[in-house]
Amino acid sequence: MTVEFRAGLEGIPATQSSISFVDGQKGILEYRGIPIQELAMQPENTFLETAYLLIWNELPNREVLAEFEHEIQYHRRLKYRIRDMMKCFPESGHPMDALQACAAALGLFYSKRALDDPSYIRAAVVRILAKIPTMVAAFQLMRKGNDPVQPRDDLSYAANFLYMLNEQEPDPFAARIFDISLTLHAEHTINASTFSAMVTASTLTDPYAVIASAVGTLAGPLHGGASEEVIAMLEEIGSVENVRPFLDDRLERKEKIMGFGHRVYKVKDPRANILQHLAEQLFEKFGQDKYYDIAVELERAVEERLGHKGIYPNVDFYSGLVYRKLGIPTDLFTPVFAISRAAGWLAHWKEQLAENRIFRPTQIYTGLHGSPYISIDQRT
Ligand code: ACO
Repeated sequence: MTVEFRAGLEGIPATQSSISFVDGQKGILEYRGIPIQELAMQPENTFLETAYLLIWNELPNREVLAEFEHEIQYHRRLKYRIRDMMKCFPESGHPMDALQACAAALGLFYSKRALDDPSYIRAAVVRILAKIPTMVAAFQLMRKGNDPVQPRDDLSYAANFLYMLNEQEPDPFAARIFDISLTLHAEHTINASTFSAMVTASTLTDPYAVIASAVGTLAGPLHGGASEEVIAMLEEIGSVENVRPFLDDRLERKEKIMGFGHRVYKVKDPRANILQHLAEQLFEKFGQDKYYDIAVELERAVEERLGHKGIYPNVDFYSGLVYRKLGIPTDLFTPVFAISRAAGWLAHWKEQLAENRIFRPTQIYTGLHGSPYISIDQRT
């Protein structure tokens, strides 16, 4: 059988999935069939409800949701030995590397494996969703030389993370916006990190290795790392007047504009529209951000120059502006993305286990055959 090679596996289905759906031409994203706008704008929807929907394929009723939230609350704390391990991390290291190491370390502490037992799946989901935010916040405080703040049971998932990070209870409006942004980033079909999670899951290893592998993949600047690069780019541009000269220069040097373009979306990412709206709400309540005007002008200029190629803002373009206003440091943008995307990774882990076959693609060999071995003395 001749198989056509497609770089980056573009357009090649890697699985069958019922978790999320994207129409890149129409700008549609659905979680388990529900449009993302509908979920994000429901005043009663929360990230944990969304995570439950993605993982267990149904919206939980009040009782089921309360139980899930309670379990997550109960498991938020880190073992003191994980905190001790984190104390040895260099403070100059990137928080994504710290998170990847901590996620993998969970496998050492919870080494029992029972992948065909639904209660094991439930416990792993709860532990991972509960502990990732605590790990991210703890690393942030520890690298500043402070002790980590213990989670607070009376705060919601989103509010508790902002509290552990900034060492003060967040404004409820800010916590709500953060919760919506977690929902927006929770799942997005078979992107690079999800694919990585699925490949790892297909070997039937433990769920902590699955999440650690996905975290490592999300870290790259072409994937989750782009939101960090967007802020660096807006800082470099510096003023609205400099947007077009900056763009001309970048395009002349054939460099990518961070936060723009997507393998699937050929229109503006629906999540970028919602995040832009959230950013505007935050600025209205807590004060303007000078980079917002630069971002809007850049979006206009990129659309003029690259719109014909389908290059529009992706999810990372406005997320950084939202996170900045919530007091999240730039190098925590990707770990915050991981907090949220863990829901999607876990949903795909569970789906993969249900119909597992180990991933083992093929290749098109481009090397030599039957080459002679040249002894070391005869090599040039
Ligand atoms: N700036 C300028 N031109 C771009 C951009 C961009 N951001 N993105 C794509 N293009 C152009 C390419 O130069 C190419 O043009 P050409 O056909 O004339 O050579 C064309 O659009 C296709 O680009 P590819 O890189 O082949 O598209 P691909 O699907 O492989 O890459 C990607 C998608 C990686 C997201 C790309 O658009 C990119 O690097 N964007 C910037 C980084 C970024 O924002 N990443 C976050 C993505 S969202 C997420 O992962 C959460």
